[in-house]
Amino acid sequence: MKDIIILNQVDSTNDYAKEHYMKLESETVIVAHEQIKGRGRSNHIWNSPTGNLYMTILFKNIKRNSIFNYLMNTSISIVRLLDNYNIDASIKYPNDIIVKNKKIAGILMETKGDEILDYLIIGIGININQLDFKELREKATSIYIEKHKEYNTIGVMKDFISILEVQKELYKEYIMKSYVLGKRIHYSNESFIVTGINKDGKLLLKGSCELEIHMNEISLEELYE
Ligand code: BTN
Repeated sequence: MKDIIILNQVDSTNDYAKEHYMKLESETVIVAHEQIKGRGRSNHIWNSPTGNLYMTILFKNIKRNSIFNYLMNTSISIVRLLDNYNIDASIKYPNDIIVKNKKIAGILMETKGDEILDYLIIGIGININQLDFKELREKATSIYIEKHKEYNTIGVMKDFISILEVQKELYKEYIMKSYVLGKRIHYSNESFIVTGINKDGKLLLKGSCELEIHMNEISLEELYE
């Protein structure tokens, strides 16, 4: 991740990212100690007192069809983060992270743009030190409730970012170790060079035209003659 902006109080870190995205670099992280207009999915309010983690990661110029990949990486990284604290969490499709049937974290993704997005913002709320969820007490939990100890929110954010970075590194490593990149292949009676593999697992080809093909569309003989 590039820059980390830490705010004491903000309406919503997602709204902050939307307002400022033009002058922020892709992969900027915005964190707030408190939100006064925190938003959840389906126009729900995301109650945001101090003590929990409220953060947004801004991505620019990425492909719309890679959104699910970003969602998967984020969800898995939250589960791994919690696992490091000995909390067994699972992913409730599409955007909730749950522990013993109670929600511990939520993700709110918002986009602007068409095929290549002006922005993808990933808002993440993780309940850390909250003890009383009032009318939601049957439905929500926090790290404190599970582990009976307080955590530093910025420390948790940093742990989360480093896990997310590892996820990204896995993709980079996959690309670096790829045997097919730069190879010439035959596809539909034409010759192409493999120029990349995108995060959806599609092969990027360049010949008389540029193509993106799904792995099911190509046989091994065409790849490895
Ligand atoms: C949900 O489960 O409904 C999604 C909740 C997302 C909450 C986070 S907190 C940081 C970011 N800013 C917001 O206003 N919402 C997201």
